[in-house]
Amino acid sequence: MSALNELLGRLDALRRQAEEELAKSDTPEALEAFRIRYLGRSSGALTALMRQLSDLPQEERPAFGKEANLCKQRLQEAFDRKSAAARGPAAGTQATTDITLPGRTGLVGHIHPITRALTEIISLFMTMGFSVTEGPDIENDYYNFEALNMPPYHPARDMHDTFYLTDSYLLRTHTSPVQIRTMESQKPPVSIIATGRVFRRDWDLTHTPMFHQVEGLLVDRGVSMSHLKGVLETFLKAFFGAGTRIRFRPSYFPFTEPSTEVDIGCVFCAGAGCRVCKKTGWLEILGAGMVHPNVLKRVGYDTDAYTGFAFGMGIERLSMLKYNIDDIRLFFENDLRFLRQ
Ligand code: PHE
Repeated sequence: MSALNELLGRLDALRRQAEEELAKSDTPEALEAFRIRYLGRSSGALTALMRQLSDLPQEERPAFGKEANLCKQRLQEAFDRKSAAARGPAAGTQATTDITLPGRTGLVGHIHPITRALTEIISLFMTMGFSVTEGPDIENDYYNFEALNMPPYHPARDMHDTFYLTDSYLLRTHTSPVQIRTMESQKPPVSIIATGRVFRRDWDLTHTPMFHQVEGLLVDRGVSMSHLKGVLETFLKAFFGAGTRIRFRPSYFPFTEPSTEVDIGCVFCAGAGCRVCKKTGWLEILGAGMVHPNVLKRVGYDTDAYTGFAFGMGIERLSMLKYNIDDIRLFFENDLRFLRQ
């Protein structure tokens, strides 16, 4: 008989003997004695047998080593099962359930960046005394254009790339119609913001066919451009940081006069000039102005007594700048890798 076969024979005998003995060991003490005798790391019978590996010729060692390890593993498993059972069913469960481990939690959802920006914008304007209102996504030509001083064939209508549903119904292209609906149902003083979806036929890095706007409207006695400036500066510094630089540029909207567009110092290059601000150091952030007297007259407000200001801005744009997002389409693709960040 070769040395290998001899050792394998002894291994088999040891295994059988151990199994018989394990079957008889029913108390924790007996089990512990078994463990020391057979599985003990330094003086156990299996270890002793494994040491004889060195008596084998080089090429036969792996074969024996493999068998011996397998045998040890089987015995250890049988022993573990038996010890778990010996400690009783309750104790057996505890052996495999570590109640000190942190619990497994389910996936928790995240607030969408648009919702997050919206919530912050709303709370900032509420602290300044504005109340929050809404209007319908489907508007008619009157509220979206005509009442805002854009009669049919007004060239400014071209800027809006409107989705028409019928000749007279359309998806609103901005939140300004809510100004009209509010003033029709409320006497001055009025101070509201209106948030919601708006729609334009556009689709690229910075435009999606649906996006969100916040509209602001304040009408009262003696309202002037400097009130507008104060409110917008307060908002922009709270939203983007106290050090934000702000610039008012003359502009044109049919429903405001005078009109302005507001820029903030580029948040990416701090004004040095970069790709995002097209080397100007400034980013256009919103449109605003003093409500045109034609608009106030149409809703029956006395233009001798009242003046007002209005502003409108895109929430996607605000949150892209705030959270450093470079493609607007990420907001709507629902890619979880984006949303979980
Ligand atoms: N409604 C304008 C737009 O969508 C923005 C705006 C609102 C401008 C209010 C002036 C006053 O472009």
